[in-house]
Amino acid sequence: MAILPIVQFPNPILAMKCQTVTEITDNIRQLAADMAETMYKAPGVGLAAPQVGDPIRMVVIDVSEEKNHLLTLINPVITERSSEEETGEEGCLSLPGVWEKVTRNTAITVEYMDLDGLQQSLQADGLLAICIQHELDHLDGTVFIDHLSRLKYDRACAKLKKRRQQEKREKTH
Ligand code: NI
Repeated sequence: MAILPIVQFPNPILAMKCQTVTEITDNIRQLAADMAETMYKAPGVGLAAPQVGDPIRMVVIDVSEEKNHLLTLINPVITERSSEEETGEEGCLSLPGVWEKVTRNTAITVEYMDLDGLQQSLQADGLLAICIQHELDHLDGTVFIDHLSRLKYDRACAKLKKRRQQEKREKTH
């Protein structure tokens, strides 16, 4: 297994519509394992393949406290959404330091293929439902700040830029 570098916003890979996975190969299994290791190390609760530079439709998620409920979703599709919505603060490993409120469906049903190539259906609510919606957005080239108003989007970008300049300064001193 390996820790992979995480693609940073606004890298154009993060704006791509990702490709469907047609077959579970050893390469796919390896990438899934590396993505999980990268997510746990970060640490984060979810990571999408484009975030490690591979624009295919696969995400890893683990919202459990013990970090022992790893989910790998391949070609996931949300088939049902609750009419109820909730607004909560989100962050993303591709936009470190930025936290903004996003409104999501409270509960969803997602259909996906697992690493054995089997079709699965999962009903989720709470943090898991939010995380699935956030990660699936990545597969269609959407990052969480795309859900913000123009003003808040610009503010988030400015925050990110400032943080990067600060990090750069700290590195050179
Ligand atoms: Ni993200």
